Amino acid sequence: MIVDEKTQSECFENIVQTRRAVRKFNPDDYNPDAVTKSLARAHLAPSSSNMQLWEFYRVSSPNKMKELSRYCMGQNTTETAREMIVIVARPDLWRQRAKSNYDFVKTNLGDRPAFKGRSALSYYGKLMPMLYNNDILGIRGGIKMLVAWVIGLKRPMVRQVNGTDIRIVAHKSAALAAQTFMLSMVAEGHDTCPVEGFDSVRVKKLLQLPRKAEINMVITCGKRMPEGIYGPRFRIPLDEVVFPI
Ligand SMILES: Cc1cc2nc3c(=O)[nH]c(=O)nc-3n(C[C@H](O)[C@H](O)[C@H](O)COP(=O)(O)O)c2cc1C
Repeated sequence: MIVDEKTQSECFENIVQTRRAVRKFNPDDYNPDAVTKSLARAHLAPSSSNMQLWEFYRVSSPNKMKELSRYCMGQNTTETAREMIVIVARPDLWRQRAKSNYDFVKTNLGDRPAFKGRSALSYYGKLMPMLYNNDILGIRGGIKMLVAWVIGLKRPMVRQVNGTDIRIVAHKSAALAAQTFMLSMVAEGHDTCPVEGFDSVRVKKLLQLPRKAEINMVITCGKRMPEGIYGPRFRIPLDEVVFPI
């Protein structure tokens, strides 16, 4: 830690309070280095089993920006953005990612137990393929759900094991990277807006993505204009959403 805890807490509080969904960006003030830095930080976000089933597409050429904004329904935030980042979930890359993890573990850790007595090598070499390998008809997923249900009768068991579950897993991790990116942009004196109002078919085509890639969200980037904040923040009271158990 390079600052004391109090300073760190105050800095983070300030970042969280400052981040807003910005719908109008300043046309005259922008530093793309903020995006470069923030992408490097987003890349450090946690991901399920460290599988990193995500990709970040940096859209900054005027033609592509225009097209992307059209596919985001011409929203104010996309029309005025200085750059846009498309966060893409890639559940289909599981084989490559499991292998990268396997190779990393082999080089750096050997075959030591890492996950509840299971060696990290068998985790990435056997368990991940078993979990992520799903067929288009969902037959494997159905069998896995049945097996999980039977095992679950006797002991706690992970139930999210079919193809849809795996897609959700990839989106959860991608969204954590997205949030890391947005908070970092504030730390760099910039602003963002997450966008999910888009035509995913057209956005995928624009980015030349394969069929199984999925758009997680588009993030607009820039520096806010005062009128780019649409109003005071609204949140459901904390005591209505936090439940001490
Ligand atoms: C997944 C997601 C999708 C969103 N999609 C849009 C969008 O398409 N257009 C938009 O203007 N804002 C969008 N927002 C921004 C929210 O409306 C905004 O975060 C919310 O109103 C809370 O405001 P705040 O971020 O300023 O605290 C999205 C936010 C999230 C998390």
